[in-house]
Amino acid sequence: MHDTLSTAHNLNEKENSGISIGSNGNVYKIPSKEELEYDYVSIKNRAYEFINGNKNRKIIVIQGIGFVGSAMAAVVSDTKDSQGSVLYFVIGVDLPTPDAYWKIGMINDGLCPVVSEDERLRNAIYNCVKNQKNLIATSSEKAYELADIIIVDVHLDVKNRVFTGVKDIEVSIEGFKKAIETMGKYMKEDALVFVETTVPPGTCKKIVKPVLSKIRKERSIEKPVRIAHSYERVMPGKNYFDSIKNFWRTYAGIDSESEEMAKEFLSTIINTKNFSLFCLKDTTASELAKVLENSYRATNIALIYEWTLLCEQLGLNLFEITKSIKVRKGTHDNIKDPGFGVGGYCLPKDSFLAQWSACNLFSSDVVLNMTMDAMNINHNMLKHTFELLKNSFNNDLQGKKVLICGISYLQDVADTRNSPTAMLADLISDYKGIPIVHDPFVNYWTERPNITKVSDIFYVVKDVDAVVFAVPHSFYLNLDINRLISEMKHSIIVIDAQNIITDDKAIELHNARCYVKGVGKGHWNALLKQNRNLLNIKG
Ligand SMILES: NC(=O)c1ccc[n+]([C@@H]2O[C@H](COP(=O)([O-])OP(=O)(O)OC[C@H]3O[C@@H](n4cnc5c(N)ncnc54)[C@H](O)[C@@H]3O)[C@@H](O)[C@H]2O)c1
Repeated sequence: MHDTLSTAHNLNEKENSGISIGSNGNVYKIPSKEELEYDYVSIKNRAYEFINGNKNRKIIVIQGIGFVGSAMAAVVSDTKDSQGSVLYFVIGVDLPTPDAYWKIGMINDGLCPVVSEDERLRNAIYNCVKNQKNLIATSSEKAYELADIIIVDVHLDVKNRVFTGVKDIEVSIEGFKKAIETMGKYMKEDALVFVETTVPPGTCKKIVKPVLSKIRKERSIEKPVRIAHSYERVMPGKNYFDSIKNFWRTYAGIDSESEEMAKEFLSTIINTKNFSLFCLKDTTASELAKVLENSYRATNIALIYEWTLLCEQLGLNLFEITKSIKVRKGTHDNIKDPGFGVGGYCLPKDSFLAQWSACNLFSSDVVLNMTMDAMNINHNMLKHTFELLKNSFNNDLQGKKVLICGISYLQDVADTRNSPTAMLADLISDYKGIPIVHDPFVNYWTERPNITKVSDIFYVVKDVDAVVFAVPHSFYLNLDINRLISEMKHSIIVIDAQNIITDDKAIELHNARCYVKGVGKGHWNALLKQNRNLLNIKG
């Protein structure tokens, strides 16, 4: 039942081995200082050759080539003018560490570091690296010297994702500040710093500008620094590339020149004919817009949770109810459905950035109570699925093998950051059960390397006591339930946390003597009771 982990992944344990292992299992050697210097010289030559006196062409450095930076690298390097001429030479910069260097290696191999369903993203990276030759990646900090625009896509985390009080929120601002300092040491005096990282509102004016101004003073640069903020709405998944290229953008500059530079750049990379830009007159407003956007979404998700509990007790199908409400276009069509929990990088943290900023950057006494409650509800939401599972076993999970279908936090993506599946697996282990996981998109589960991960759901189902559908990957939505049933050696418990099992499939499972429960599916009690009566009549 155990999948053999690849040798490459086992190597990952050797943190200081001088190697870094890609999401595809490839091993990349982390370069020495001398090699980085050589890298820089060769990139510089290539970049200047690309510019070659053409003032419309610019060099863009992207700091941080993770989920956002690598997609941004694809979009920017793919950008052409109306004559079809390539506009930018793009250099992705990331850290020379085992955790990060593989992203550089993969980009230079023409591969997308993010496992993605989006062919357009993968093709753009391949084409820009291998054919157009205007996309390259490096760990050399000196690359910032070359940039006309530096796009900041580094992460900025919060330490605790549960709200216990305003003063308890801790934001890891130091890593972000360090990234800004590094570019400040090298950047050209008239380069634009274009911050896309989701930051506490006020960061551009109260952190980025003072940090850069201090370094510029030390470097005897008199010109004011140019800084803009424009947040990403990128969505990993099938439309990854388009979620940048063909999507609306908000931006702001710390002064009119920065604002103009940001506008000019965005107008080239984004399809502004169909997706207009929105200029806010203050970078703090743009920074706040991002965290408000995600807080709005988080609060919507939290709202539906208590209605989920109610509908389950009243024997109602909440999915049908929300479907009926969604016909009210314009006001109610984005009502959320019940679900498993909230994960990913952004939603579990962004609201805390706002509250931290209020207290630490503005000395405000406003407490975002409703938003903070929503964060806690979302954090604990998966416990309801766990309760359904535990109750199905009469509270005794000891030795029970539970297959969790889906590790990532979102449908059809491989991102496992803050996945509620991790918390569910931990709870199952705490209660002496045995979690086993499956996910068609995740090759290696970095956050829980010791949990058994299987690749053949039909094989493993022979040997488990329960299956939890946790992520609505297309693979599970299209799963052949009859085949699953035919592979089972005995009846099992099936918990559907994501509306994957239709009523018909629930009846088929029930006919196979499985015990079936679903989040938000209060109507199954009556439906399956009726079915049980029918089965008994049939004898
Ligand atoms: N992932 C998303 O879907 C998404 C969507 C919208 C906004 N955002 C925001 O975008 C930002 C980046 O998110 P992400 O998901 O790409 O994070 P990520 O962790 O995938 O990528 C960040 C990258 O920055 C690198 N980095 C850190 N410090 C650096 C330094 N000093 N120099 C060079 N590289 C450095 C890291 O090694 C990493 O590769 C975050 O603020 C996030 O909230 C993310």
